[in-house]
Amino acid sequence: MNFSYSETNKLSPESFTEHTESLRQYQAYLTSLTEILDTQAPETSITLPLNRNYVSTIKDFAKKHNSPRLGAIVVVGIGGSNLGTWALYNSLAQIKRPIIFAETTDPSSIIDIVSELEHIYAHNQHVTLIVVSKSGQTTETIANYGVLIQALKDYDKDWQNHIIAITDEYSKLFDYANKYSFDVLTIPQHVGGRYSVFSAVGLFPLLLAGASIDDLLDGAEEAVMDNVSSDLKKNTSLASAASIYGNYLNGKTIHNTFIFDSSLYVFGKWYRQLVAESLGKDGKGITPITSVGSTDLHSVAQLYFAGPHDKFTTFITVKNTLYDAQVSNNVNLDDLVPHIAGKRLSEIMNAIYKGVTVSYKKNDLPFVEIQLESLNEYACGYLLQTKMIETMYLAKLMNVNAFNQPNVEEYKIETNAILKGS
Ligand code: PA5
Repeated sequence: MNFSYSETNKLSPESFTEHTESLRQYQAYLTSLTEILDTQAPETSITLPLNRNYVSTIKDFAKKHNSPRLGAIVVVGIGGSNLGTWALYNSLAQIKRPIIFAETTDPSSIIDIVSELEHIYAHNQHVTLIVVSKSGQTTETIANYGVLIQALKDYDKDWQNHIIAITDEYSKLFDYANKYSFDVLTIPQHVGGRYSVFSAVGLFPLLLAGASIDDLLDGAEEAVMDNVSSDLKKNTSLASAASIYGNYLNGKTIHNTFIFDSSLYVFGKWYRQLVAESLGKDGKGITPITSVGSTDLHSVAQLYFAGPHDKFTTFITVKNTLYDAQVSNNVNLDDLVPHIAGKRLSEIMNAIYKGVTVSYKKNDLPFVEIQLESLNEYACGYLLQTKMIETMYLAKLMNVNAFNQPNVEEYKIETNAILKGS
């Protein structure tokens, strides 16, 4: 992964250094967590790729659930319990087995999923239903589970063996799953929801779908080692956090993750949740948005160029795409748009991307750039881990707790009270 920032983040070397220096103690603390593999610290998620004892259980369960008749995997979860998995699933084109994500309790989307399940059973296949909830008590997740389980019971004689719960040890869901003899994988207690993608939460469904979780964890491990390092040339998380924070202090309160590969779209959603829930508290916060190149150049770019200068941008591009296509040479395209006939779409996309960054510079808009070699497990593992550590650094700079979400709990309590009365 390449990260470039110094020419374009628009911070003076002094202010950039002030922010990186103020993180030195925390960076050393994170290093110490990786050495002692602390499982009690709120940052303990960074030790997951380093201490992989838990992975053998995940692999055993995946072996057990992997059958030729497994037509699709259904992940029932929301927020930190599904977005990381979904982000990786969408980014990794090489994954072969479909994963269906049941997220919100929107009836029409859940009814669509029920229809998909009926279709799968009609073709003499079955699904494995993975219900993911750290607390084990999230209304949306348990309600969707309650709808989808009926489809399993109706169509699958062996339904009890095709369910697996991923939850905190001793949550109510843990007890429930044990009571009904479902398989259970646990989430380490101090690994928070939005930091849990490299626990069973992300690894189990992705492995069952056919991803290499070893490569994913290798990428995440290298990212941990680089991003707790005192060497700023390696430490993208720290340099990126200092760039975002310096610009936040300069009024750039919106952080636009501008991706030039649409398969990273759900990654953008995952990062949005990570940043919003981790940093939005005590009257502080950075508003994360995601834009997709080149689509959004025809949608919101006018605002970015000429509207209020309140945005900082991280561009993400992918050097080697899995697929490419060539524009025909034989249909006189020069009459319409010159210089595109015979070119590959990736070449045209590169030209568009370069044009955008030149315009950003001309308009004095601050940005940094991430370039991934390709979208494989290793690179994606590296990217997600880098962003999680970046968020921890940002929280430290902003002096907020990156690991709680007290105000989200408020709506959950209100919802339960309303449901009780209805
Ligand atoms: O990051 C978080 O902690 C939250 O977004 C949770 O993941 C989300 O609220 C779902 O919670 P649970 O996993 O307990 O169902």
